[in-house]
Amino acid sequence: MARPMLIAGNWKMNGTRAEAADFLSKLRGLKPDARPGRQLLICPPATLIGEMAKPLAASGVLVGGQNCHPGVNGAFTGDISAGMLRDLGSSHVILGHSERRAMHGETDQLVHVKAMAARRHGLIPIICVGETLAQREDGQAEAVVREQVRTSVPDGIEGDALVVAYEPVWAIGTGRAATLDDIATMHHIIREALAGKSDGAACGLIIYGGSVKPNNAAEILSLDLVGGALIGGASLDAGDFMAIADAT
Ligand code: PGA
Repeated sequence: MARPMLIAGNWKMNGTRAEAADFLSKLRGLKPDARPGRQLLICPPATLIGEMAKPLAASGVLVGGQNCHPGVNGAFTGDISAGMLRDLGSSHVILGHSERRAMHGETDQLVHVKAMAARRHGLIPIICVGETLAQREDGQAEAVVREQVRTSVPDGIEGDALVVAYEPVWAIGTGRAATLDDIATMHHIIREALAGKSDGAACGLIIYGGSVKPNNAAEILSLDLVGGALIGGASLDAGDFMAIADAT
């Protein structure tokens, strides 16, 4: 059986309705084929999830959010709940991206409760972990990532309902992806850290993010423990996104 692969696009704060329409029409033209085990996912800004859900589904692509609030509803101005994302048709939600950790002060504990909220509403959390350049240079990368997995990932999530994304902060948006050795080593460490939590989580998908492009996707995605990619910049272009997906 083909091994499961998740190719996920993180649009961040990019995309107007016109740009989304353009992306969708290019994607339609590329006719993504349904490959066994491969899931394609686009996480646009929340403003576009509703209108992209159906056309993406018609191309066999899932839609997801980039963040959610841990609560159900209430006086949380500007926030969006997991249930609301689900209501728009989302299957996944990215949580604890390093940009949210750095710019919005998100802690492992907050990511943990957000992930539980996501599961309560039937969403698959994509929990991001990864060291900064300073932490790597200080020899702390493995310890940092182990601790992030230990604290951010709730116990007992079934393996097929959990994705952990290894995203070294210094590789995001820099054009400098981690080396294959570093990616393989860190995926192994994450696998171990998940196995230490519960049997279920041990089966969760681990994906790599950080400057994944059409020209480096094949070698990254061919690594044994790599279960897919989280793609920022290159996912804004339907051609690049599909070139990466087809490198699986
Ligand atoms: P990048 O972003 O592909 O633009 O490096 C990855 C991410 O932040 O998820």
